Amino acid sequence: MSVSIVSTQPFSDQKPGTSGLRKKVPVFQQPNYLENFVQSIFDSIEAPKGATLVLGGDGRYYNRSAIQVILKMAAANGFGKVMVGQGGILSTPAASCVIRKHKTFGGIILSASHNPGGPDGDFGIKYNGSNGGPATETVTEAIFAKSKTISSYCILDAADVPLDTLGTSTLGGMQVQVIDPVSDYAELMESLFDFAAIRALLQGGFNIKFDAMHAVNGPYAKEILEKRLGATLGSVMNAVPLEDFGGGHPDPNLTYAHELVEIMYGDNAPDFGAASDGDGDRNMILGKHFFVTPSDSLALLAANATLVPAYQKGLAGIARSMPTSAAADRVASALNIPCFETPTGWKFFGNLMDAGKVTLCGEESFGTGSDHVREKDGLWAVLFWLNILAARKQSVEDIVRQHWAKYGRNFYSRYDYEGLPTEAANGLVQHLRDNFAALTGKQFGKYTVANCDDFSYTDPVDGSVSKNQGIRILFTDGSRIIFRLSGTGTEGATLRVYLEAYEANASFHHLDAQVALAELIQIAMLVSELKQRTRREKPTVIT
Ligand code: G1P
Ligand code: ZN
Repeated sequence: MSVSIVSTQPFSDQKPGTSGLRKKVPVFQQPNYLENFVQSIFDSIEAPKGATLVLGGDGRYYNRSAIQVILKMAAANGFGKVMVGQGGILSTPAASCVIRKHKTFGGIILSASHNPGGPDGDFGIKYNGSNGGPATETVTEAIFAKSKTISSYCILDAADVPLDTLGTSTLGGMQVQVIDPVSDYAELMESLFDFAAIRALLQGGFNIKFDAMHAVNGPYAKEILEKRLGATLGSVMNAVPLEDFGGGHPDPNLTYAHELVEIMYGDNAPDFGAASDGDGDRNMILGKHFFVTPSDSLALLAANATLVPAYQKGLAGIARSMPTSAAADRVASALNIPCFETPTGWKFFGNLMDAGKVTLCGEESFGTGSDHVREKDGLWAVLFWLNILAARKQSVEDIVRQHWAKYGRNFYSRYDYEGLPTEAANGLVQHLRDNFAALTGKQFGKYTVANCDDFSYTDPVDGSVSKNQGIRILFTDGSRIIFRLSGTGTEGATLRVYLEAYEANASFHHLDAQVALAELIQIAMLVSELKQRTRREKPTVIT
């Protein structure tokens, strides 16, 4: 077997976002495209000769081909070993778990998260460091810089590596160890939660439904929920991972997980429902005829954490992304622990967790996690909820309503405008930037603007500053409107409008969120000139 040094052209495409490089499959299929990016990673991470990498993905279309290319390039670049999930599969949290457990140098995760897959769908690749979390800004900058000057890459001329049987083989001078994608992760979950109590809950007739959305978590949920915890067979639906997710959009929200939503709002609804996304890091939690917002979910997990063995001693702190509702802040203040507000994207949590400043973290975008790994973790959140339900022996709805009664309710909703012309989206944000200073003190009905800004974050651990993270309109009663452009969309621009209204008075807690937020929505439309600028009457998705 020999190493080829293939000459190539730089691709100065774009800087990889917070979630790595995400593009349509045909873009990745262009000659040398994937190879350029992988070589740029290897040239940037300064791995010592013989280092070990973890490799796996969410099983979407192009996963298998990409894995073969990466293995051959890792061998040619002097890695000693790659631990790859069987069939090329590893959920994002499981990859993080394996990196940490086996103390590897890092890992490469292939996924476009919740974006649709298939030959015309999305694909993605990202590098995670030895803490199991997404690469730091310094590393992604270095990868981007390399990708602009790259002139060749190294690849081993070898036959494909069989990925379907467990065991170790060699590829040139490198070992390839095909590992069970589920076992390390399942073991970690068993060490965190009270499996006996959850088993007893499920045996007592508590019905659950988990929608794996034909994505990576199917085998994880089957093993953990059905096999280890004894949930009735069939509790996991859409359990077989498919390269195109069965044509669906594997994003666990009320719009895209409609099959589960219909079951949970139908006759004879189960007691608990949940779904996770393409790569298994997001989660949606439902009770019987009841939806738990991700922001409330984070606050609830924090408020009930001591019921879970792993968090029995309490939390060091909580972190939430800026657009996530302030429900968690209220719990943190009651617990007398710090609450950090970070820019959108998981990597900001990693620093805080590595420094021991926070235990739980979450985002409004259906992401929740803790310091057990350095990614958000869908199934972990489901198990956390089941552990609380087993301990409290109340319904999901009762637990949430009691929480609101104690802390007040943060009504919350996010409006997404997908596929906008880039100029229209940028123009709208610029318009807000140019005008927000004048909004301070202005009154709109019952709301008075306290302050407006473009969110900026100074990392308390490394001092790095992230600017322009979203326009915030903050009202005197704690309500907020936030505008920000998505960093993960792959078609045109996606504008997100986040709406939050705080209501302390329990006699209003029964209101529908859209009703409670109606006035704020109007203010958002007015100040942003959204309809005129985007020509959209309605958002693409409301969550
Ligand atoms: C979206 C979510 C964000 C999440 C990211 C990766 O990013 O809003 O919370 O961290 O996906 O899952 P966005 O498209 O808004 O940049
Ligand atoms: Zn994801």
